[in-house]
Amino acid sequence: MTHTGRHFLQVPGPSNVPDRILRAMDRPVIDHRGPEFARLAHEILDGIRPIFKTSGPVIIYPSSGSGAWEAAIMNTLSPGDRVLMFETGHFAMAWRRMAERLGLAVDDVPGNWRRGADLEQLEARLAADANHKIKAVMVVHNETSTGAATRVSEVRRLMDAARHPALLMVDAISSLAAMDFRHDEWRVDVTIAGSQKGLMLPPGLGLNAVSEKALRANESAKMPRSYWDWQDILKQNKDGFYPYTPPTNLLYGLHESILMLNEEGLANVFRRHDRHADATRAAVRAWGLDIVCERPEDYSSTVTAVFTPEGHNADQLRKIILENFDMSLGAGLSKLQGKVFRIGHLGHLNDLMLAGTLSGVEMGLRLAGVPHRKGGVMAGMERLCPSAKTSENQAATA
Ligand SMILES: Cc1ncc(COP(=O)(O)O)c(C=O)c1O
Repeated sequence: MTHTGRHFLQVPGPSNVPDRILRAMDRPVIDHRGPEFARLAHEILDGIRPIFKTSGPVIIYPSSGSGAWEAAIMNTLSPGDRVLMFETGHFAMAWRRMAERLGLAVDDVPGNWRRGADLEQLEARLAADANHKIKAVMVVHNETSTGAATRVSEVRRLMDAARHPALLMVDAISSLAAMDFRHDEWRVDVTIAGSQKGLMLPPGLGLNAVSEKALRANESAKMPRSYWDWQDILKQNKDGFYPYTPPTNLLYGLHESILMLNEEGLANVFRRHDRHADATRAAVRAWGLDIVCERPEDYSSTVTAVFTPEGHNADQLRKIILENFDMSLGAGLSKLQGKVFRIGHLGHLNDLMLAGTLSGVEMGLRLAGVPHRKGGVMAGMERLCPSAKTSENQAATA
């Protein structure tokens, strides 16, 4: 089928790349050891800090988010170290698998893939660890596979209350620059991020924001490392350079992304994501479908995962939506495969793009024969534009 107009990329990352960023990257490659690159690197390395809400260093790798996961581990821990991780969903499990492969001893807190990290268990595990064997608490802020977020401020509060010295490592891959995140205030030791979500860039950059405590841990950490070593990078970053050939054009894109986020203002960016998530959930409820995240306090503002009713394959629904309306939705991952579809509402998005997305889902439900009630799009619009009702009323009484 020939499609016209723009493809709707509504997976929860990679997100839509704004034309402004595409244009910013459309430049000749420059000498990465020359003065023009050094200026670019200095501006980016300074400009990215406020996005993490940190005054500390941010290390940027040419890698996917998984590379930045590995970098966080290799730079701070030693083989055999005990770490505490939470089964919140597919990505938490993938990070856990990586930790085990790299030789860490993982204490796992089970979960039902419908909530953020189990904070009661966190409290209990920390209290039971009188000898401070746990060297790091590792949480996924926003579990992209389920649309359930963990309150990182609460994790920090419980670690403080237990007077536990473990490092706090947070995967903010699908929350940074989209949901409220405060690296310094929450005293996160390593925040892990990627370029292809809230930063609105193509995939290809992995980021670590690093605390002073993490830098101290780095001095004694025994994991073998070379490419991922923070020290080599930090040393050369001082002069605006890298110990390897950096992805120059992605960095031009990052420069533009930082400008765009600052123009809108981070607080407005977060509010926009909250609104779009709220409208999406209103649509899903109106359709009579179940949201995977079962507690409102855990709702993600960047992705809503939705169960299809028993006997209706979510991948078939996604296929029908792609073929008919040229829109990509996120697949259910691991044990949610075929049972769940995910609506990404993050990054470069506005009200009409969201309304179009919800329309595509509602038409898809109809075409696929998935039992649902009509009116999800209207319910979403009502949340995006509640004053329409008031003006209607005003018109009626005028
Ligand atoms: C929360 C989370 N962590 C980790 C990853 C892995 O990142 P990447 O695919 O860039 O390696 C993703 C990817 O979607 C993610 O959403």
